Amino acid sequence: ARLDVWFDHYTDKEEVVLWMNTVGPYHNRQETYKYFSLPFCVGTKKTISHYHETLGEALQGVELEFSGLDIKFKDEVMQTTYCEIELDKAKRDAFVYAIKNHYWYQMYIDDLPIWGIVGEADENGEDHYLWTYKKLEIGFNGNRIVDVNLTSEGKVKLVPNTRIAMSYSVKWKKSDVKFEDRFDKYLDPSFFQHRIHWFSIFNSFMMVIFLVGLVSMILMRTLRKDYARYSKEEEMDDMDRDLGDEYGWKQVHGDVFRPSSHPMIFSSLIGSGCQIFSVSFIVIIVAMIEDLYTERGSMLSTAIFVYAATSPVNGYFGGSLYAKQGGRRWIKQMFIGAFLIPAMVCGTAFFINFIAMYYHASRAIPFGTMVAVCCICLFVILPLNLVGTILGRNLSGQPNFPCRVNAVPRPIPEKKWFMEPAVIVCLGGILPFGSIFIEMYFIFTSFWAYKIYYVYGFMMLVLVILCIVTVCVTIVCTYFLLNAEDYRWQWTSFLSAASTAVYVYMYSFYYYFFKTKMYGLFQTSFYFGYMAVFSSSLGIMCGAVGYVGTSAFVRKIYTNVKID
Ligand SMILES: *[C@@H]1O[C@H](CO)[C@@H](O)[C@H](O)[C@H]1NC(C)=O
Repeated sequence: ARLDVWFDHYTDKEEVVLWMNTVGPYHNRQETYKYFSLPFCVGTKKTISHYHETLGEALQGVELEFSGLDIKFKDEVMQTTYCEIELDKAKRDAFVYAIKNHYWYQMYIDDLPIWGIVGEADENGEDHYLWTYKKLEIGFNGNRIVDVNLTSEGKVKLVPNTRIAMSYSVKWKKSDVKFEDRFDKYLDPSFFQHRIHWFSIFNSFMMVIFLVGLVSMILMRTLRKDYARYSKEEEMDDMDRDLGDEYGWKQVHGDVFRPSSHPMIFSSLIGSGCQIFSVSFIVIIVAMIEDLYTERGSMLSTAIFVYAATSPVNGYFGGSLYAKQGGRRWIKQMFIGAFLIPAMVCGTAFFINFIAMYYHASRAIPFGTMVAVCCICLFVILPLNLVGTILGRNLSGQPNFPCRVNAVPRPIPEKKWFMEPAVIVCLGGILPFGSIFIEMYFIFTSFWAYKIYYVYGFMMLVLVILCIVTVCVTIVCTYFLLNAEDYRWQWTSFLSAASTAVYVYMYSFYYYFFKTKMYGLFQTSFYFGYMAVFSSSLGIMCGAVGYVGTSAFVRKIYTNVKID
């Protein structure tokens, strides 16, 4: 592993390494290539090499290469030429292409990122210039590096068959910035703590209060009325009851606890959704406590670790639900549940990797990393899932429903079009989407543009709000569905919550076309591929949350009604 991560204290004249990371078009933040894929030249120093540090870094395509620049702590360097580029036609074309596409490069000093622009074209786009002089100003506090500024100077016109000298200088400045605060200058409080953001949180919060109030009022009242009606009918003798018109959700008591159709897929989805929920919850809490953005790739590593560690949650919920629904092929269910999300993510990554390899982008995931991910799936996620499944089947796998399930399913009566499950499913996602779409803008912008997301408190609030709204909405949907004497509430509740994701995916189209300037096959497939993965995970999570909340509600209302 690299030592300067651990030894962030320097002694005077100690070597400071300037790492070159990537270069790529400014508008396509995720389309990156190795810095030296452009014909830049390397400095004279040759002694340091880098290995991938974390799985997260490798997956994100962080591939640092030594710049070859000689920098020593507190040692001023006047403008010095470190190498020369012999500009032939091919090299010139490569630079011109990069300049035309607004290429930026990124470097690291002591984990601090530095961005610089490759070059510039003149107004009519005929002549292209390369910035050849990197002026580094490094701020130190005691024996630590706390600040770096890069100024690009020395514009040189790109003419074939000339030599271009690349130079650098280093200036050291005493700085008052504390080491702990050195990442603060990369954060953008005026963006993330903008009034809109606070306002949207406040708005969603009001919506939650309103919805919860509404749901509890409607349900309390209607349910009380229903109960009163049902108990009155109870007192009538058989003769009257046959004449009386019994209707409403009580009628389907012999069918509500009938297993859902496709129980295997259904319980796998619920199990995976519960796991995604716990992963999001834990990762956000970890991110709130530790500033994960200060280390490259640490967010992704944390997420992978937490995902593997929470596999028993998946097994538990999926396995117990499957057992309750009377499923017999539990091993198959466990495999589906365990590999649903990994297969979705890896499938997308694999597909995008092909395109990345074609483009020689640094996003291409190395073979060793793929093997590592497969090993995690087989040797960590699967066994932990097995533990969870066995626990779930034995601890809560009994179908102890409040009502018996009739042998023959009741026919589902004709109903108005807006009571059809398909319509309920489409409408169900609107309110949850409304409560999160402003946050989506901030999350998208931090991922697809140059902003570091750091307001995890907001994210936590939004997650909580999303869950409450989802549960409220699905409960109302399910109540209407059951009242129309349609007992297919399980998939309906799951899908009406999950349809939030469809709206999020549609929003991502809007975001792509109106909020970004991305272009090209690689960036486009990367964007829509990973957005699909993100939206589906979000959908599965919302679906599971909605289903879990609704099934508690259904169990509750049928427990309280007397059934003869
Ligand atoms: C870097 O630039 C910022 C803003 O111009 C300035 O406040 C800071 O002192 C600079 N740091 C160094 C080390 O020059």
